[in-house]
Amino acid sequence: LQKQALEEIKTAESLNELSEIKNSYLSKKGSVSLMMGKLRDLPQDERPIFGQEVNNTKESIELALYQKKQQLENKELLKTLEAEKIDVTLPGYQFYQGSVHPLNQVIEDVEDLFVGMGYEVAEGPELENDHYNFEMMNFGKDHPARDMQDSFYTDENMLLRTHTSPVQARTMLEKKGNPLRIICPGKVYRRDDDDPTHSHQFMQIEGLVVDRNITFANLKDALLKMVRHLFGPERVIRLRPSYFPFTEPSVEVDVSFMKKDGTLGYIEILGAGVVHPEVLRMGGYDPEEFQGFAFGIGVERIAILKYNIDDIRHFYTNDLRFLNQFKGVN
Ligand code: PHE
Repeated sequence: LQKQALEEIKTAESLNELSEIKNSYLSKKGSVSLMMGKLRDLPQDERPIFGQEVNNTKESIELALYQKKQQLENKELLKTLEAEKIDVTLPGYQFYQGSVHPLNQVIEDVEDLFVGMGYEVAEGPELENDHYNFEMMNFGKDHPARDMQDSFYTDENMLLRTHTSPVQARTMLEKKGNPLRIICPGKVYRRDDDDPTHSHQFMQIEGLVVDRNITFANLKDALLKMVRHLFGPERVIRLRPSYFPFTEPSVEVDVSFMKKDGTLGYIEILGAGVVHPEVLRMGGYDPEEFQGFAFGIGVERIAILKYNIDDIRHFYTNDLRFLNQFKGVN
């Protein structure tokens, strides 16, 4: 009986099979129990030996069952581990990742540069008071840029700002006569028909420094640093005399680029100048003590030049085929 039981246990292949075997030998009606029942039929003197043997059989079956059970459980564990193993070679999910808009890439780049030179980032409202947009910037009452044709007025006094320069006036008043260095990016609006080179809404980055002993040379230095940071160390700038009511002298600034025939060409990227004494005075600074310089960069122009873009409207139509090209550029 013992031999047969051990053989059955040895060849059992599953835990189910094993528990059936256990039942057939060790349950109340199992073979071992029945064997024990026979004890009563035996003569008195044979009982102890027989009982001993049945007990031994029972114990060795129990031990074998226990060992086999462990073995089968291990095997099953290995099997589930094998089945649930992660296949690291499977392709991952494709998560859609956006990108920073090229205009914002330019803005962040310029901000970083000037913040590193001690400038603060400033902001002003896009819906601006006529007073800040024009008057504080020294536009005479009859200046042509104030014409309703050029600006989007919402009422007599309010308009969508035509440049970021009103932030100059706001910042000067805020700083109450203290030296200041700011950089101010933002949207501006002009009444233009949209075409490849014009947009009724575009972006500028205003810069303003007011301090003692500021000269035109400081402006030139700041602009050259910026151009070389944006386009590379081989670039040069060209200054052309210009006119703005809020700067004197005023310049328009071109950046050099290599033409196909190997000669240098120039493209305009910003307007700038030495802050007009009247603007300083209105902003609460004594022009005898303080001087300043200011510049207003056309962000689209920078991006167009940097990334070779042929139509300004690409920046605003949000075509993913366009935008996706700027992933990881910066
Ligand atoms: N505000 C001017 C413009 O919109 C640019 C400018 C800014 C010029 C600051 C001089 C100084 O064209």
